[in-house]
Amino acid sequence: MLKSFVIGSGLISLALAANNSTLTTATPDVKSACSFDDFTATASADVASIAACPTAVGEIIIEGDSFGSIELNGLEQLYGSLEVNNATKAVTFNAATLQLVSGELAFSGNTVLQTLNLAQLTTVGSLSLKALPALENAGLTSGITSADAIVVSDTGLSTLEGINVVKLKTLDINNNGNIELIDSGLQQVTDSLSISYNSDQVDVKLDQLTSVKDMVLQSIGSISLANLTSTNGSLSFSSSSIEKIEISSLKSIGNSLTINKNSDLTEIEFSKLTSIGGALQISDNDDLSSFSGFPELKTVGGSVNINGSFDNGTFESLDRVSGGFNLRSSGDLSCEEFNELNSDGDIKGDKYYCSGADKETSSSSAKSRSSEETSSSSDDSESDESSSSSKSSDSGASKSVGGILGFILGAAALGVSLY
Ligand SMILES: *[C@@H]1O[C@H](CO)[C@@H](O)[C@H](O)[C@H]1NC(C)=O
Ligand SMILES: *[C@@H]1O[C@H](CO)[C@@H](O)[C@H](O)[C@H]1NC(C)=O
Ligand SMILES: *[C@@H]1O[C@H](CO)[C@@H](O)[C@H](O)[C@H]1NC(C)=O
Ligand SMILES: *[C@@H]1O[C@H](CO)[C@@H](O)[C@H](O)[C@H]1NC(C)=O
Ligand SMILES: *[C@@H]1O[C@H](CO)[C@@H](O)[C@H](O)[C@H]1NC(C)=O
Ligand SMILES: *[C@@H]1O[C@H](CO)[C@@H](O)[C@H](O)[C@H]1NC(C)=O
Ligand SMILES: *[C@@H]1O[C@H](CO)[C@@H](O)[C@H](O)[C@H]1NC(C)=O
Repeated sequence: MLKSFVIGSGLISLALAANNSTLTTATPDVKSACSFDDFTATASADVASIAACPTAVGEIIIEGDSFGSIELNGLEQLYGSLEVNNATKAVTFNAATLQLVSGELAFSGNTVLQTLNLAQLTTVGSLSLKALPALENAGLTSGITSADAIVVSDTGLSTLEGINVVKLKTLDINNNGNIELIDSGLQQVTDSLSISYNSDQVDVKLDQLTSVKDMVLQSIGSISLANLTSTNGSLSFSSSSIEKIEISSLKSIGNSLTINKNSDLTEIEFSKLTSIGGALQISDNDDLSSFSGFPELKTVGGSVNINGSFDNGTFESLDRVSGGFNLRSSGDLSCEEFNELNSDGDIKGDKYYCSGADKETSSSSAKSRSSEETSSSSDDSESDESSSSSKSSDSGASKSVGGILGFILGAAALGVSLY
């Protein structure tokens, strides 16, 4: 099952295996020797007392520099949590019989830890692997099929074979310099999915993912989201070397969409996207010369904020922007289309600004009332930052481009930023 996802060497495989993420929360009765209440193990004998229990209950911490290896073979189920922190001399961790940890299983700051053996582990509340620079193998031979949260941060791993969950609350893979490919069968993330600062060119394939709440992707090389149809939160693509962002099945974004600082990006394609609940920001993408890639986009619930050197850019279906509109282009793109949107009253927010190949045009509803006045009204523009939400019904007429031209020219002459 895993094999079909193996494409390259650095691989995170979250296979298709659908399994049940409902953890049993019932805590079994165990003899008192296997009940560990805030137990901290600092010596091998302490660890042996845990390993002597097939089923243990409690919150266990293993820490300190007295271990070369940590031997937990014997322990099968832990109802509670296990943290292995700052065991700075431990090279191996063996828990080959462990099947379940109902709470958190966390490894952190184990600087020379090379090998984990979690051969039978299938079920965890959460798995956290942090600051494990020497770790090359997560040792998940059976594979985790049930978990709420997975964090892999700052490890030496080049692959995460064995993380086979299909539904998670959170997935956070960051700062693992050896991970070059994340190819996953994950279908749903109900809270947040974050992939940041792994290998610069990390290819991210999440083709089974259909829904996610928030998703943050930073410093990635490519992205494939073939089945993503909805996101209730925000989507952010930034500081990446991706050349193309194409999400062809996505219909709606609950909150904002941000595409920022992707220096090689030349193409954006959101062919079915009809609504963005929050803001749309497309900024500082040096090679992006067109933002035409939103043919069905009708509504933006926040503001639109776009800058760059654009020769093309159009929103064919856009008819409502609840916030302001700020477009700054140094290319051949004309503002004509956007000026029209504004004069039609489709930009509901106070502020409108567009600078392109033609003259710059701007307005704000508060100011437009005084647009017949002279440039002295520019003082007001500072103060209406704070009242920008008190906006209204007068926008259609008052925002007519011609009507406010006097003000604009005055404000521009004074170098006032209107947005
Ligand atoms: C789900 O769990 C069952 C029982 O533990 C196991 O037999 C099965 O292989 C798992 N299914 C998948 C798809 O992993
Ligand atoms: C999940 O597993 C538990 C225990 O095996 C079972 O009672 C429950 O019905 C399963 N839930 C789903 C959604 O499969
Ligand atoms: C591990 O050690 C580091 C550095 O000494 C310290 O900052 C950190 O709090 C320790 N972590 C835990 C969980 O004890
Ligand atoms: C997203 O929101 C919709 C409607 O509010 C809800 O039905 C759906 O379950 C949510 N999806 C997720 C993944 O949270
Ligand atoms: C989309 O998801 C379906 C169902 O899981 C799957 O069969 C299909 O291969 C996925 N599409 C792509 C392009 O991976
Ligand atoms: C583009 O917009 C972003 C976000 O508003 C801003 O931080 C950045 O400074 C702008 N870049 C330029 C060159 O104006
Ligand atoms: C961009 O605009 C130019 C000139 O207006 C046009 O020739 C070209 O076809 C456009 N490119 C795209 C991708 O729309």
